[in-house]
Amino acid sequence: MASPGFTSESPPAPAPPSASAVPSVVATTDSARSRIPRFYQLSIGERRELLRDRIDLTDAELAALDDGGLHPSAADHVVENVVGVYALPLGLGLNFQVNGRDVLVPMAVEEPSVIAAASNAARMVRDGGGFSADADEPIMTAQIELLGVSDPAAARARIEAASEELLALAGATLPRLLERGGGPREVEVRLGSHPARVIVHVHVDCRNAMGANMVNSVAESLAERLAALSGGRSGLRILTNLCDRRLVRVRARVPLAALGVRGAGESTGAGAAAGDAFSGAEVRDGIVAASQFAEDDPYRAATHNKGIMNGVDAVVIATGNDWRGVEAGAHAFAAASGQYRPLAVWRAADDGSLLGKLEMPMPVGVVGGTLKAHAGARLAQRILGSAAASATELAMVIGSVGLASNLAALRALATDGIQRGHMALHRRSAGLKHDGPTARPPERATEEDSP
Ligand code: MEV
Repeated sequence: MASPGFTSESPPAPAPPSASAVPSVVATTDSARSRIPRFYQLSIGERRELLRDRIDLTDAELAALDDGGLHPSAADHVVENVVGVYALPLGLGLNFQVNGRDVLVPMAVEEPSVIAAASNAARMVRDGGGFSADADEPIMTAQIELLGVSDPAAARARIEAASEELLALAGATLPRLLERGGGPREVEVRLGSHPARVIVHVHVDCRNAMGANMVNSVAESLAERLAALSGGRSGLRILTNLCDRRLVRVRARVPLAALGVRGAGESTGAGAAAGDAFSGAEVRDGIVAASQFAEDDPYRAATHNKGIMNGVDAVVIATGNDWRGVEAGAHAFAAASGQYRPLAVWRAADDGSLLGKLEMPMPVGVVGGTLKAHAGARLAQRILGSAAASATELAMVIGSVGLASNLAALRALATDGIQRGHMALHRRSAGLKHDGPTARPPERATEEDSP
């Protein structure tokens, strides 16, 4: 990963408040829609009513929250040898503001504290103006391996000269993508370390799809022609999950006033209030030191990135996307420099606040695939609203959740340690008896008592 390259640029202004009705069980609420104080204190039914009001959900859409959104008969058409479906908790990440827009974030995850921690960190970032994000065009890459090539340099020249023909051939396999403004964009030829191997990449703009099937079709459609051009034979024809032309970048600024920690692990609301266990400046310096540890040491970087993926995967799964693809891309990108590196880094800004920056591949889509079969994934899109209007919009939200998860983990590690908040929430799930759906946890989670 490139050097952090921080500037003290101002994040976008917060979105203007909008009026929205909430049930009377919520004593107060901000008018902006992702900030819902004391949401955790509501019953599941009350949370659903609040969600229904805010998103204007139908009963049919809400039903996905009861059955997970995938009936076994539908699952039977999705994979093989189906005997049932497998459930995960679905919760809402709160307080998120991305590029000035509030967004409620659906998160499917089994690990206690991930949702509370991300929500808590998003609240701190909100105090600094929210997340600011941008994303590359949704480019996925087909790889065609050519073997037995006697003169790789000459093969490369012939293939490059035939780029236009190859792009047209590839485009002919994807007429609907072309109609939507996407399609093959560029042919790139790489000479592998093996002397007789040539590797051809075809970069395809997949618009709002994740694109794996389309890109694999492109790879297969070009193999014969490329083999002829190379004077060799075709080998593997498949996408690469190191989709480094489909990156998302997220920046966050956290004021010191939001970072301080009281003895009980809560934000102080002041940079260095009397009685703080850790002042805002101490927490900032601890987070920067933790970032530098990950930048120096791959063993720490792996755990640092796992914390990022806690948030990323939860949204990727909730939205019906391929989390194995996102994971593969993330870790390959993290290792691309030759040393495994953190996907997000933190520094102190000139004004003393904390600045975070994340960059990683984000191959996710908002059409096709799982969405057709999975009412839960469609509901997740409804909850995200305009933040799921395109694949790049969704990528920016997911990157923001990853950066929030990282901030929460580093803040906990730099202060009380991870176990206090984490284990309190673990005890809730460990306390569940296997006595059916009415079993209740012994304690309630809060946004505040979690890392
Ligand atoms: C636990 O799921 C994630 C952390 O280990 C991440 C980190 O160490 O940065 C807490």
